[in-house]
Amino acid sequence: MDHRARAWLRQKHCAARQQTEDKASEDAKGEKSRNRVIENELRDPSNFLEFLVPRPLRLVLTGSGAASCLIATVITGTQLLADLRYGGSGDAIPTVAINAAGGLLFAALFTADQRAADTRISRRDKVRKAQIGTGDREVYVNKDGERMSRLREVDSDWIIRRLERWGKRDRMPFIGPEKGALLQRIIRERQPRQVVEVGSMAGYSALTMAQALGPDGQVISLESDWKWALAAKRFVWQATQGDKSSKPADQQCGRVDVWVGNAIDKIPQQFVSRPPIDLLFLDGTPNETLAYLKAAEPFLAKGATVVADNAAIFAEGGMKPYLEYVRSDDRYTSKLMKCKLEWNDEVEDGLEVSQYMPPGAL
Ligand SMILES: C[S@@+](CC[C@H](N)C(=O)[O-])C[C@H]1O[C@@H](n2cnc3c(N)ncnc32)[C@H](O)[C@@H]1O
Repeated sequence: MDHRARAWLRQKHCAARQQTEDKASEDAKGEKSRNRVIENELRDPSNFLEFLVPRPLRLVLTGSGAASCLIATVITGTQLLADLRYGGSGDAIPTVAINAAGGLLFAALFTADQRAADTRISRRDKVRKAQIGTGDREVYVNKDGERMSRLREVDSDWIIRRLERWGKRDRMPFIGPEKGALLQRIIRERQPRQVVEVGSMAGYSALTMAQALGPDGQVISLESDWKWALAAKRFVWQATQGDKSSKPADQQCGRVDVWVGNAIDKIPQQFVSRPPIDLLFLDGTPNETLAYLKAAEPFLAKGATVVADNAAIFAEGGMKPYLEYVRSDDRYTSKLMKCKLEWNDEVEDGLEVSQYMPPGAL
């Protein structure tokens, strides 16, 4: 075979392979769009009848019902007109009316079904867009170059974002992102092993602190209200359900322990035989803050950091005795880290950050 014949054969072979590949990719696309229709169908049904009769079949039934009634209306109507023109009695009037009513009924069913599907699809689109906006859904391009979206895995970031949305919407007293970032900075700088929090509520601050822990850090969060304690335990558990191998932050959230009880009693009972507290975060009831500190003081490590929330907004109220104590006692070096109140950029607040250094400790 000469080289021209071989080149011709090669071209032909390539063209044939290209055609096969094109066909395969068209088949795959067709298959995918069919799968999507089926998926929509499986997600759409809202009652038993809709499960039994899929939408395409319903549309065929109602559409063909409407069309046949319309044709029957035209035929019986024409016969009726001819009958009336030749002095007939108009006996066919009920038949025409029944046909027309059937046509209207089927057409209404057809339109309602179609509209309901459009509404469901646009509602799903809205939900998807909202999820993309909150960061719970990510957009990606698949191997066929199509823009797709998928829900992000539930992990600690996901739970923290969810709690932030809740906090913002209902003005919940979670510390919020700005104070959260300050706390994380303190934890990263000081690398505490034993972190103790008073006031878990839903676990927002405990999770935020846990994300910044070092390899041997642990958070014990105390909550006096058992309903909040349960909520915090649930969110902590959810936060650890992501792909742990690739996200150390999620693993660290697994080192949050929520304890139920009044911190003022629980700390002295439980910390006698535990490692000393390296970081104490006080965020319970403002006018009890000094009592929390006094309960925890015997268990503070030398050089421990004590952080108290709402040190500016309640400076002249519930936090006053606490602030006077840490600012006047020689064992503490204390300063206010100014920031905004959670969920409200117009209100000033702050964290009181105090270093505990009892005499002789160096
Ligand atoms: C401001 S919220 C805590 C918010 C949480 N630290 C956050 O940022 O997500 C105060 C919580 O402290 C709890 N609490 C109040 N007094 C307490 C006490 N004596 N011991 C333990 N928890 C207490 C309350 O039930 C409430 O859930």
